Amino acid sequence: MSDTASFVAQHVAGIPRSGIRDFFDIVQNTPGVISLGVGEPDFATPWHIREAAIYALERGRTQYTSNLGLLRLREAISAYVARTFDVSYDPKNQIIVTVGVSEALDLALRAVLNPGDEVIYHEPCYVSYSPSVVLAHGKPVAVACRAEDGFAVTAAALEAAVTPRSKVLMLNFPTNPTGGTMTRSQLEEIAAVVRKHNLLVLTDEIYSELTFEGEHVSIASLPGMAERTIFLHGFSKAYAMTGFRIGYACGPAPLIDAMMKVHQYSMLCASIIAQEAAIEALERGDSATAEMREQYRLRRNFIVKALNDMGLKCHLPRGSFYAFPSIAHLGLSAREFALGLLQHEKVACVPGGAFGASGEKFVRCCFATAFTQIEEAMDRMDRHLKRLRQG
Ligand SMILES: Cc1ncc(COP(=O)(O)O)c(C=O)c1O
Repeated sequence: MSDTASFVAQHVAGIPRSGIRDFFDIVQNTPGVISLGVGEPDFATPWHIREAAIYALERGRTQYTSNLGLLRLREAISAYVARTFDVSYDPKNQIIVTVGVSEALDLALRAVLNPGDEVIYHEPCYVSYSPSVVLAHGKPVAVACRAEDGFAVTAAALEAAVTPRSKVLMLNFPTNPTGGTMTRSQLEEIAAVVRKHNLLVLTDEIYSELTFEGEHVSIASLPGMAERTIFLHGFSKAYAMTGFRIGYACGPAPLIDAMMKVHQYSMLCASIIAQEAAIEALERGDSATAEMREQYRLRRNFIVKALNDMGLKCHLPRGSFYAFPSIAHLGLSAREFALGLLQHEKVACVPGGAFGASGEKFVRCCFATAFTQIEEAMDRMDRHLKRLRQG
């Protein structure tokens, strides 16, 4: 009998399964759990956006689109990005519509990496960054960020990670899982290092609309950066459209063209129904986003205070819908803590190690959950901590 597993490519076999999904397999088999787990808005997509998708079906809009996506959507993206992020992209050749930011990220990495090229990213980070680099035959290089710095990446730490093989810097602000953000002057320092070492930036700004205070600055808008940046964005978080699977990338025409080649032969195009809904989101979705942001802001204020009050030190996330408290003082691994909490109090949060080694002493609590559920979860967590203290 043949060993079927031996057919699996080595670089794929070496990638671990997502720490989040593993954990939530356990959660799904435990009734009565309050989940602060998977990072997904608890709101349904605003009705007028759903209606646009229904209307697209009614009109028989069921075909392939241009590989780059509907021109009308690319025009709407161009206008939105210009007014929101202060960067101009030509809808004809500098924007590609993708199947979520997930595909945009994969296309960008596959389009630019030669085997062994190094990709620097800040950690803790979104679970798919390191595996996506490996799948594109690159080498992931993590730069650890600290709670004391608000989980911002420093120019000194970046500089220390650069080698002659460095090609790409991946940024994600506001950050999943920490909610960290970067100020304009901090980004300017990073941009200086990027220019000095001739790096390309991939900036994933999927949480930018969920910035609660301070301006959100895109590194693409800084002088001399648009020509060396691929800007990735999407609809999943801002418009609660995760299931539509729709996102986009903007960048210099030769890079978008290279990404288009990979997309053309792998995905062909994003769903036309999702593209029609995305047009509606960009043209008329701003007030729905503002309402959801306000709800997230109120929940954030509550959860961060509750965590700190019960003795879990938690910095104030300025964006995203994640709180990232430290459990370092408890003498347990994050996984042990999360499993104990699940077992005794039926509250699920994600052990920080899922987001890289520098997340080991933290847990991620997603507050894209109803306020009453968050309140109950905090009561249960407080009770669990008291139990731990009593030994
Ligand atoms: C930082 C980050 N980037 C990308 C994604 C994937 O987004 P999409 O649904 O657009 O593929 C997520 C999803 O959680 C995320 O947190």
